[in-house]
Amino acid sequence: MKNLKVISTKKELKSYLKSLCGTIGLVPTMGALHNGHKSLIEAANKENDFVVVSVFVNPTQFGPNEDYDKYPRTLDKDVELAKEGGADIIFAPSPKEMYTDIYFEEKETTLVCPPYKYVNRLCGKSRPGHFDGVCTVVSKLFNLVKPNRAYFGQKDAQQLFIIQKMVEELDFDIEIKKCPIVRELDGLAISSRNTYLSESDRKKAVNISLALKKAKELKDKGIKEAQTLIDTAFSYLEGFDVDYIEIVSLEDFTKIDTINNKALMLIAAKTPETKVRLIDNMEL
Ligand code: PAF
Repeated sequence: MKNLKVISTKKELKSYLKSLCGTIGLVPTMGALHNGHKSLIEAANKENDFVVVSVFVNPTQFGPNEDYDKYPRTLDKDVELAKEGGADIIFAPSPKEMYTDIYFEEKETTLVCPPYKYVNRLCGKSRPGHFDGVCTVVSKLFNLVKPNRAYFGQKDAQQLFIIQKMVEELDFDIEIKKCPIVRELDGLAISSRNTYLSESDRKKAVNISLALKKAKELKDKGIKEAQTLIDTAFSYLEGFDVDYIEIVSLEDFTKIDTINNKALMLIAAKTPETKVRLIDNMEL
């Protein structure tokens, strides 16, 4: 196993990275690492000489009534899992290290804002400002780490699409690697927020992946009407507070009504009891 170094300041990170010679893979995370993150770290370890995992619960991507304060912070455990995955460095800065005084005084900072067209729907619609915060912190991490490649999970499909666009539109010289969703044995997509689920919601949460699977089965039988597939998926989500079920083109993420090319079905829903907002998606 590699000798993993935990770094908490930008200055130390920069000087440590200067001493390295080889390619760098970056895995940006908010910590509470699980097997989904581990698969990203392993992929980065295979393709790069060095792997940096950032662990930072980024305040700018949380809305005022969201779970920023209660988001799980488990650095000791994260270090163990990152080591197992083959990471060389964990960069775990404090909010004050990442953002300057103006953010704490005025709740404002220079932001990287993706176009309205990308963010006015799906998760961006119910989480205003979320993707501005994501793009801002990811840009900062790109500037600090200067990775050759950066690894993101397909579970956050809209985030991945927006980051790919940001890299293209802002000319970041970084290869974005899309990694498959990792699931529990029963099909539930692994997420740090699964730890919030009550026992009964944990059992029901599997219905989200089941809904996607059933829609895919129907599509495989030749049904191309998006609304029919959406209605089928919806029927598996009784008791859930469904935020959206949508089918988009894999190419440009626009909503489609009839599936003629590769498409993605996305679901966001709050669980019946604990009201935990879960997201998942499946290629159709
Ligand atoms: O997907 C996440 O965990 C976060 O949105 C990210 C990309 C680490 C930015 O804070």
